[in-house]
Amino acid sequence: MREINLLAKLPKPKRNVQARGGAKSADVIEVSRQYGEMYFDGPREYGYGGYRYDGRWIPVAEDMVRHFGLKRGDRVLDVGCAKGFLVKDLMAVCPGLEAFGVDVSEYALMHCEPAVVGRLHLGNALHLPFPDGSFQAVISLNTVHNLEREECRRAVREIERLAPGRGFIQVDSYRTPEQREIFESWVLTAKFHDYPDGWRKLFQEAGYTGDYYWTIIE
Ligand SMILES: C[S@@+](CC[C@H](N)C(=O)[O-])C[C@H]1O[C@@H](n2cnc3c(N)ncnc32)[C@H](O)[C@@H]1O
Repeated sequence: MREINLLAKLPKPKRNVQARGGAKSADVIEVSRQYGEMYFDGPREYGYGGYRYDGRWIPVAEDMVRHFGLKRGDRVLDVGCAKGFLVKDLMAVCPGLEAFGVDVSEYALMHCEPAVVGRLHLGNALHLPFPDGSFQAVISLNTVHNLEREECRRAVREIERLAPGRGFIQVDSYRTPEQREIFESWVLTAKFHDYPDGWRKLFQEAGYTGDYYWTIIE
């Protein structure tokens, strides 16, 4: 298990933490957690405020292909793939790679990139309907924390099951109480979050042997 920032080349999103904190309510959170149009393409207080393809995942995809040594014919799965931007870019940077995605959002899948039609499955990270060891890499970015702690453990176990030692999981975290405070005024969908040590403990409990990193709002 190794901490490594595979999203280092992704541009930092612009976040108005104060505006989000002010607009947040139980109703807004409930709508966001439906992962529908409001979450992806509605106003910013409900989620992304417009989730559109702009090629920003290409350098990340290159780093992932290099990190896992992926090549033509290998299979890679993105758990929480949304509209399939990373799936598309993984295939673009590694011709012949068989990239797939899973997501709970029917809205995201119905508005996916044309290049990935048929490669994205409607499903839950809790139960991935694929045989043991069937992927050369499984990636999950900013998705696992949307489950309760025990469910996070199950999802991590699923990732390990599909690609033992060849996972990459990025989740919400914070290194200081100040970062935690900022995170808590920003967060909408995450049901479990913790300091890196808390996450490492969870990964260990799940028998996870892949790599990981943190999304930290500063
Ligand atoms: C913050 S978005 C991340 C999307 C994409 N991975 C990225 O980094 O841009 C979280 C995604 O997780 C999906 N999601 C939430 N809970 C899930 C679950 N239990 N199983 C699979 N996907 C889930 C949402 O629909 C959404 O697409």
